[in-house]
Amino acid sequence: MRGHEHGGNIIGIAEQYGLPANELIDFSANINPLGAPARVKALIKNSLSAIEQYPDVEYRHLHQAIAKAHQCDDASVIAGNGATELIYAVTRYLKPKRALLLTPGFAEYRRALQHIGTKIIDYPLTKAAGFQPDLRLLDTLSTIQVDCVFIATPNNPTGLMPDAQFMQSLVEYCERQGIALIVDESFIDFLPDNRGLIPQLAATKQLYILRSMTKFFAIPGLRLGYLVSGNTAGITEIKNQREPWSINAFAARVGEMLFDEHDYIAATHQWLASQRHYLWTQLSTFPELTVWPPSANFLFFHCDKPDLWRTLLKHRLLIRHCKHYVGLDECYYRIAVRSEWENQRLIAAMQQVFTCG
Ligand SMILES: Cc1ncc(COP(=O)(O)O)c(C=O)c1O
Repeated sequence: MRGHEHGGNIIGIAEQYGLPANELIDFSANINPLGAPARVKALIKNSLSAIEQYPDVEYRHLHQAIAKAHQCDDASVIAGNGATELIYAVTRYLKPKRALLLTPGFAEYRRALQHIGTKIIDYPLTKAAGFQPDLRLLDTLSTIQVDCVFIATPNNPTGLMPDAQFMQSLVEYCERQGIALIVDESFIDFLPDNRGLIPQLAATKQLYILRSMTKFFAIPGLRLGYLVSGNTAGITEIKNQREPWSINAFAARVGEMLFDEHDYIAATHQWLASQRHYLWTQLSTFPELTVWPPSANFLFFHCDKPDLWRTLLKHRLLIRHCKHYVGLDECYYRIAVRSEWENQRLIAAMQQVFTCG
């Protein structure tokens, strides 16, 4: 992938194709369509004077809130300006000489590693293997020398959740071999019953878990994420190394209250269960498509018909093409699950596209 190829590039695409940005429906960024919780907006409105002071440079209250939510020690936690800041921060801290990346995967791991000159070894997740990693990954790790592995659970763009037993084996293998394992759980909040690997932190020193709050709580413009690890000395070093005040005062305050948004969390899971089922069943009816079973708030598919992206753009629907992902081409797409009427509009447009030829 080159440059900044991400979903949600509404302004860039509208400019490039001469379209009014406000008329596009954005299926290309995986953001909760319920919007930010009402209490978040109220808190920001009511704390405008927070801009007149520096935020706490140690983000004590925010770290305490995250630690409390995950029943771990504050010393295991560092918050960041989105998970993205922490991908770069943990990479700079680890300084791996050689790193393994699963492809396709989120672009920023590669960019962060390239910044510090790490040699990257790609591990292709193939269509034949259902785009899922399995124990063959451990065989590969035993034959190549790497200091670090990145894996996303669920993965972006495939939306697939690796097998839990496999993840356990990977954690144990990396612990034994002294390989840093960075598990990106940025989308795991969308899986109601999955607590991810944070409960295992105490037993590991090689595991680094990334979380994002921007997708689930619909605050990509505010920016907030965190990293947790049993390597508390490493977390302290990352805190000492990074630039001060990278999280703005609003994001820090908002982060302290998000874990208590139980009604919003329940409403999100309810919306997702029904709308993802709708999209999955509808997309599965098109013979032109191969759709992979989603686990998070987006769906991944292959389309035999060329140029679906451009055609849907004419319908003012922006989906994510995956041609810039290493290991994929322009026939693969990712779409976010959105609100009922938006999802219906997408399906209606696709019915038209596929029936009209
Ligand atoms: C797998 C994955 N990790 C991390 C991020 C970055 O999230 P944030 O907005 O918290 O920086 C993204 C954003 O798309 C992502 O897809």
